[in-house]
Amino acid sequence: MPAKTTLDDDRAVPAEAVTPLIRGVVVLRRLTEAGGTLSASGLERSTGLARSTVDRIASTLARMGYVRLDGRDVVLAPRVMELGNAYLAALGLPALLASHADALADALDESVSLAVADRDGIRFIHQATRRRAMSLSFRIGDRLPAERTAPGPLFATEWTDAQWRAWHERRAADPQDRGFPAVPPREHTSPDEDEEYDQDFARRAERAGKDGWALDDQLIEPGLVAVSVPVRDPRAGGRIACVANVVSHTSRHTAAHLRDTLLPRLRTAVAEMERELREAPEPAPGPAPTGLATWTGASKQELGREFVESLARGLTVLTAFGAGRAELTLTDVARATGLSRATARRALITYEHLGLVRQSGTRGFALTPRVLSLGFPPLSRTSLARIAAPHLAELAYRVHESASLAVLTPSGEEIQYTARAATARVMSVNVTVGTRLPAYATSLGRVLLADLPPGERKLDASGAALLRPLTPRTITDPSTLTAALEDVRARGYALVDEELEEGLRSVAVPVRDRTGRVVAAVNVATHAARRTVEECVREVLPELLETAGRVEGDLGVAGRFARVSVE
Ligand code: PHB
Repeated sequence: MPAKTTLDDDRAVPAEAVTPLIRGVVVLRRLTEAGGTLSASGLERSTGLARSTVDRIASTLARMGYVRLDGRDVVLAPRVMELGNAYLAALGLPALLASHADALADALDESVSLAVADRDGIRFIHQATRRRAMSLSFRIGDRLPAERTAPGPLFATEWTDAQWRAWHERRAADPQDRGFPAVPPREHTSPDEDEEYDQDFARRAERAGKDGWALDDQLIEPGLVAVSVPVRDPRAGGRIACVANVVSHTSRHTAAHLRDTLLPRLRTAVAEMERELREAPEPAPGPAPTGLATWTGASKQELGREFVESLARGLTVLTAFGAGRAELTLTDVARATGLSRATARRALITYEHLGLVRQSGTRGFALTPRVLSLGFPPLSRTSLARIAAPHLAELAYRVHESASLAVLTPSGEEIQYTARAATARVMSVNVTVGTRLPAYATSLGRVLLADLPPGERKLDASGAALLRPLTPRTITDPSTLTAALEDVRARGYALVDEELEEGLRSVAVPVRDRTGRVVAAVNVATHAARRTVEECVREVLPELLETAGRVEGDLGVAGRFARVSVE
């Protein structure tokens, strides 16, 4: 595809549009299409922008926490998901319907997804995925051509003539679906076959209107089948709010079998979803972001030319939207962001041009599903280990010691390392990702055990045999250990001094998810000769707490609407 710095169309750019904002959006979209990482020269090629421009945009996005600069590479970072989160929170559907979709996926043991209409395509806003081989599965934010899906014909029942025309034009201009990087390209066929294919979609839309459901019989790839039912919003005159899909593979269900066996249960779940939409109270407006204008000003002072302030300001406009803030006037946006009305207005004009914002109501603006194309899909299936890795590397660099992330194994007796940043220093405990150690004798384990209700900790009478002395200092008495865990809980950190191995001293702090639950722990291990216990507390603990805070911040953003695996 030729490099384009305006998005996918040739409409004239409005005179008031903010060029650096357009460029920043294009950089985010190219990174997203590339799966999350591109070298600076790769970005130069795919955007057609000058290298110096790419560098300035990248350093601005890095300052915002939206990308990381990793050697020559520019890498999407979890914070960028706050843009997609703004859309999903404003939309309100995931908050109300995701748990219903998840429950259905559990009950059927099949993947269930929710999709909204996005022009002549569909875009996923939720995925409750079963992990199975054989079939590609889509991510939140992926966009598919309507005609290759089951939800597509359902949405098409509401298309205007202009929308059908736009769809025909796209089909003619892009017969192989090159504009949809999430799907395999269609084999190029003849004009006659294309004509037949297009008529078939029109017929499927007509049938979907009559049936109230639709099938996808391997339209995307061989084996992949789906059945879909629209979720209608009683508050929007019964228009389709989103479509719920059950997705399977022909090795388990043919399309016809899917319809016969699972459609009734999908319909029941959809009826529940519609009841949820009818009964849910209007969401109370969440807090608007604060201090953004001050922050961008300070960053400009510090970074000078390497900080493109108009880009940073423009991006903050998207985060002004959210739960209970789906439709904002220009005044609302200016107030929420602290930007002048003139600046906010130019950003909104730019976004409207880019298809990221639409006019809504009389004087309002709303985000479009396209906001999810700004970094969301590649990060929507991340893991805590991946989120933590750059923060651990920074911590290890600052304290000159190895830093690790670990979780409790299902048995509750051991910890397992899931991420690690090692320094060159040689240590006798040879720990790598995957290593398991006894929870009771490690700082990481103590932090994880301390968060469990006492009855769930594997160290009472029956577990006493577990507490073996690994060094002369190992706590082996259950009640002493229980008191130590209470102490860890109260202080918010664990320090274990030569209990796992002589000469090894380690400090750990908890990592909490959005709900406050401890999901992992981070630690720094040192040789007893290098730092005293007091030095560990004075020098290392604050750095550890800072690191845990950053990991928690990223986890909070990434885990708001997407699932972050902790193993
Ligand atoms: C999916 O959720 O992966 C999905 C949904 C509908 C389709 C195909 C795939 O038609």
